[in-house]
Amino acid sequence: MKILCAWIIAVSVTLTASAQELGKTFQKTCGFCHQSGVAGAPKIGDKAAWEPRLKKGIPALVESVVSGKGAMPPKGLCATCKTEDYRALINYMAAQ
Ligand code: HEC
Repeated sequence: MKILCAWIIAVSVTLTASAQELGKTFQKTCGFCHQSGVAGAPKIGDKAAWEPRLKKGIPALVESVVSGKGAMPPKGLCATCKTEDYRALINYMAAQ
């Protein structure tokens, strides 16, 4: 039982740390445009702006970021982001 509790605590600490990491990555990359809606970027937390885009499905949205779309440069300024990071960042923006 003690071992299980320690494991649960360790997992929840890891999750909190990664949520903070996500916020930091967002601010340094996507947030540059998606925070205020530069050049027509769908703003963080703007459900009306995100809803029609989410209907395309997350894989299609990740693809838009990786190859660039309109005023958004390829990779969305995040040179080190992987597919999972883009997924997490998109969910982060759409769900705030
Ligand atoms: C230089 C500004 C800029 C940066 C940086 C940026 N975006 Fe964007 N993003 C835009 C603009 C502008 C659009 C709207 C493009 C359009 O629909 O013409 C957009 C659209 C999107 C869309 C919707 C794509 C679609 O197919 O409808 C997603 C998803 C997205 N951005 C995710 C991200 C993520 C994740 C990051 C960070 C890794 C990021 N963006 C960084 C400007 C930016």
